[in-house]
Amino acid sequence: MTANSGLSILFVCLGNICRSPLAEAVFRTKAQQTGIPVSVDSAGIISYHAGKRPDPRTLAIGEENGYSFENSYARQVATTDFTKYDHIFAMDKDNLEALQSLQPDSSGAQLGLFLSVLQDSDLAEVPDPYYGGIEGFQHILQLIEQASDAFIEQLKNRE
Ligand code: 4NP
Repeated sequence: MTANSGLSILFVCLGNICRSPLAEAVFRTKAQQTGIPVSVDSAGIISYHAGKRPDPRTLAIGEENGYSFENSYARQVATTDFTKYDHIFAMDKDNLEALQSLQPDSSGAQLGLFLSVLQDSDLAEVPDPYYGGIEGFQHILQLIEQASDAFIEQLKNRE
């Protein structure tokens, strides 16, 4: 997690090797460029890939576009995440349902779909690219960049 004060945001997908590490890297870079203090991390619903580096396709697409994955290792969502983070953004509806069933009553974290930050858009989910080709990773990068820009605009307007 980036150790800044300010808002804390956790991005969640199924495996924490394709979509959410990309969202973490993109959002962190854009927030830093804008000067908004945030703590950003990512996690997966399943533990299967815990300890692994991001998928080589996420690394390739991300690094080609200037994003860094220096300290990115997969981990599973933990109960403590629900008290540690202000916002927990799910990549798809299945992820969101899983998070809702894990959320303790004491948690004040705001759960939602990441693409819900895109107003006037029919897009709801960042699709799972794992079993597809590299073009799926290009597509999720575009969605993640759009949603990151939109959420950063919302945060700027809150300041
Ligand atoms: P992610 O992609 O949820 O975006 O990290 C996946 C990675 C691994 C698997 C599924 C999706 N898997 O089934 O192992």
